[in-house]
Amino acid sequence: MSVAVLGGLLAVSTLAGCGGDKEAGSTGGGDDKIVLGFSQVGAESGWRTANTESIKASAKAAGIELKFSDAQGKQENQISDIRGFITQKVDVIAFSPVVTSGWDAVLKEAKDANIPVILTDRAVDSQDTSLYKSFIGSDFKVEGEKAGEWLAKEYEGKTGDVNIVELQGTTGSAPAIDRQTGFAEKIKANPNLKVVKTQTGDFKRADGKTVMETFLQSTPKIDVLYAHNDDMGLGAIEAIEAAGKVPGKDIKIITVDAVRDGMTALAAGKINFIVECSPLLGDQLMEVVKKVNKGETVEKRILTKEGTFTPEQAKTELPNRKY
Ligand code: AHR
Repeated sequence: MSVAVLGGLLAVSTLAGCGGDKEAGSTGGGDDKIVLGFSQVGAESGWRTANTESIKASAKAAGIELKFSDAQGKQENQISDIRGFITQKVDVIAFSPVVTSGWDAVLKEAKDANIPVILTDRAVDSQDTSLYKSFIGSDFKVEGEKAGEWLAKEYEGKTGDVNIVELQGTTGSAPAIDRQTGFAEKIKANPNLKVVKTQTGDFKRADGKTVMETFLQSTPKIDVLYAHNDDMGLGAIEAIEAAGKVPGKDIKIITVDAVRDGMTALAAGKINFIVECSPLLGDQLMEVVKKVNKGETVEKRILTKEGTFTPEQAKTELPNRKY
């Protein structure tokens, strides 16, 4: 396995052979503009908005013609986006899959049309990994583990039940599945740490608020909220305050992303810990697009480098935060 840092991201894995099966393409190797079809999940969160901006800005800077489509959170829209890109004979297709399963047929259509596909941000569960050239993005399980490790440490040596409520991301999405798994693995050694309620808030602020309202009504003692992203955590904070409780004190809050709004709440002590998930994938995507268009070999898995933040660290980081 090779490990390399590429463009601020960490590239890991054995090399994926993608050389050869795309000829120099209609544009590859020549002076014509590369045409990239990109199907985005939607605009459900601050993270997603920053990700879209990163992709658009990087395409422009790289001189790549971007055909951008917003799937509004629907897999059927993404499938039809991809089919549209195939019909238009774009050079490369990239997309951030809203859910993990159900992609094999359309990915095979792209492969048969000799159009390389790059996954960004989220994984698919296809067994045939030759259906895509590379997957650029975070390790969501590690993110869940970081959240669980922080909590396990926070309650180390303490007695008494700790009631945790969990706001999950979009059902069936890679980040929702992996952040839940990673977190559960890290807290299971301490039987006092109990996830008493878990429900999706679809990565949206408004849903985070309404689901937290129902949690507060049904569960008299909530000690911890684990939200799979900042936006849901921020919505939940509104519900907690409306219920007369103090976020960050009466209920400890852990979120994922570290977008500016989340970091602001962290610096103010309303969130206790944030695990970072970087949306700035655009530059790396364009590098990989150029390579696959030329038929070059690329890393099969390109991992994003990211950290974690406490309230004190958030205060220092906020002035430099790019998203
Ligand atoms: O796939 C990344 C996740 O999707 C982000 O954590 C969340 O905010 C977004 O909507």
